[in-house]
Amino acid sequence: EQAGKGEYDHFMLKEIYEQGTSLSQAIEGRIDHEAGDVALESFPPGTFEGIERVQFVACGTSYHAALYGSIAMNCAGVQTSAHLANEYGVSAPPVDEDTLVIAVTQSGETADTLSAMRQAAADGARLLTVTNVVGSTAARLADDTLLIRAGPEIGVAATKTFSSQAVMLLLLAQRVTGDVVGEQRANLEALLEDVSALPETIESVLEDDDSRDLAETYLDSQSFFFIGRGLGFPVALEGALKFKEITYEHAEGFASGELKHGPLALVTPETPVFAIFTGEEDEKVLNNAEEAQTRGAPVIAVCPEGHRALNVADAHLEIPDVDPDLAGLLANVQLQLVSYHAANALGRPIDKPRNLAKSVTVE
Ligand code: G6P
Repeated sequence: EQAGKGEYDHFMLKEIYEQGTSLSQAIEGRIDHEAGDVALESFPPGTFEGIERVQFVACGTSYHAALYGSIAMNCAGVQTSAHLANEYGVSAPPVDEDTLVIAVTQSGETADTLSAMRQAAADGARLLTVTNVVGSTAARLADDTLLIRAGPEIGVAATKTFSSQAVMLLLLAQRVTGDVVGEQRANLEALLEDVSALPETIESVLEDDDSRDLAETYLDSQSFFFIGRGLGFPVALEGALKFKEITYEHAEGFASGELKHGPLALVTPETPVFAIFTGEEDEKVLNNAEEAQTRGAPVIAVCPEGHRALNVADAHLEIPDVDPDLAGLLANVQLQLVSYHAANALGRPIDKPRNLAKSVTVE
């Protein structure tokens, strides 16, 4: 097992550091810079003509990637919704043959997700899965498969597969938007340039990892809160999930605007707040972070250098300044590192957290 980890103490850390490579594999051959468009092998232009709505189903970290994809598609004008697969039966609006259901599942074997897929198929929806495993049950159930090509992920807490899922969903969103709305987003070429550069951008974040001190500074806190808005919201949820999975400390992710509707009652100097700034509606996130800071909470701003949040923040996790559609993914890498360093300082069994399994095959 040690051999498989190479120079790293844990598979999780190795997989965090593999994200440049796994993302290169995910996007290889899937962007046509000359045409200024995505080039998804099984999904040429016109593939999604006639689709009227898109539903996402997934669990755990894959649900956060699904929410990321759903928000991105929704902002581009496609009617979308994201559902926890285990709540799909009661939460999803009715489907028909004009509905595309996208199941996001690393393993392709999560029972809750497979069950939602079977229900959607029985109701006549078109099924697509975004998965890491060729020939998985999800791939066999779906009409179409988009492989994330991340390579095996051993750590129970998903890391590299999240970033690959989110990026593949962003690329897929461009094709769906083109077909359903009839036009591409305004600055598609610039986004595709930033996606192509993302492996290197992620490497630059990893090279400058200075999150260990920060993780240790706040280690004695009571709870850890993560806030974001828009595409920062699924990242806040994922940041908190990762933190609780491997540190066993209490962590919650909130839509930053929801803090004032309840969670603020929990905020004290013992509850550091990680605030994610994507470059969109940052002023509102900053106001929400300040509301927490006024109640004594330390605020850790996850944002580019020179960002106005740094005038108020108690600490900083730096991310490069990129397209708002991608900023959250860089913030997520910083939060993965914080969780890892906190769990390591606490001596947790990082790769195999208690009570959790890599793939849950019961409902
Ligand atoms: C388990 C794992 C999570 C994972 C979830 C969904 O709960 O511990 O890390 O996100 O299953 O798995 P999937 O394979 O469907 O992405």
